[in-house]
Amino acid sequence: MSERREPEMTVLLDPDWASGSLVDDVRRGLTRHPRTLPPRWLYDDHGSQLFDEITRLPEYYPFLAERSILEAHADEIVAASGATTLVELGSGTSEKTRLLLDAFTRAGQLTRFAPVDVSEGTLRAAADEIATAYPGLEVAAVVGDFTLHLAQLPQGGRRMVAFLGGTIGNLYLEERKAFLGALGDLLAPGDSVLLGTDLVKSADRLIAAYDDSQGVTEAFIRNSLTVVNRELGADFDQDAFSYIPFWDGHMERMDMRLRAEVPQRVSVPGADLVLDLAVGEELRVEISTKFRVSRIAAELEATGLAVARVWTDEPGDFALTLAVKP
Ligand code: AVJ
Repeated sequence: MSERREPEMTVLLDPDWASGSLVDDVRRGLTRHPRTLPPRWLYDDHGSQLFDEITRLPEYYPFLAERSILEAHADEIVAASGATTLVELGSGTSEKTRLLLDAFTRAGQLTRFAPVDVSEGTLRAAADEIATAYPGLEVAAVVGDFTLHLAQLPQGGRRMVAFLGGTIGNLYLEERKAFLGALGDLLAPGDSVLLGTDLVKSADRLIAAYDDSQGVTEAFIRNSLTVVNRELGADFDQDAFSYIPFWDGHMERMDMRLRAEVPQRVSVPGADLVLDLAVGEELRVEISTKFRVSRIAAELEATGLAVARVWTDEPGDFALTLAVKP
């Protein structure tokens, strides 16, 4: 039996968000139209907990769908990747990732696991649990942002970079291209990407997944205002906003917004901003783009990666694509 190894933690994100890019993001986002709040700031420790609750909602099919693919195909994925290091971007609790870790363990293939997440508390807890559950495994956790800190990911070994849950859907097309391009560039020949993407489906099911009956998703989206109030001394009043999730069929994405229900002035001293919001003005907090399998493959190939395989669940709700750097 191997012994438990203490996880290593590298902190690349300034723990004081307000001194870092939150200010720039908020200033840029809130002064354009539609006004936006970038989704990265949803994941303080409370937000990460709310997201974890979302994954247990019956309406939130992406979690279940992706898990069923991993349950059925983790061994094939691991074999096809040939990897010895698993890097996970936006790892959160790494709950589903254990299906991959188990398959790696069965194959005797894995030496290192490097989860990367913005939420330090969640990451620490997950790294600790994984180090205990997989004795002998080197756990090298990175507190960082997958768009800002890609260049500083652990090097060496044959790497598979897993980006699961459909999180890539949070990025706008231009951001997605930049992200995939940067990722493709930094991989070494033989490294691979395992990309989880939610697929286009009926608007009813999509809306139900983002407007759950228990209001957990609404609380998650509203947490963006709580974060800006706390970190930047803003005075957003939750009661003055309603939650508006909708399906944008043209862009093929869910769009989650908060709408001002009364005219109001909001000050955000930490970003040196005063906003006058009219009734009906909306803040876009998150988009969640849905994909078609052919488009995912095309976007990956455009970055110079070769699609090795695509797995979907039985109803075709979700896809996992493995692409290898030649
Ligand atoms: C973590 C980005 C994949 O877009 O489905 C869930 C976030 N937002 N419910 C998603 C989310 C509202 C989630 N991702």
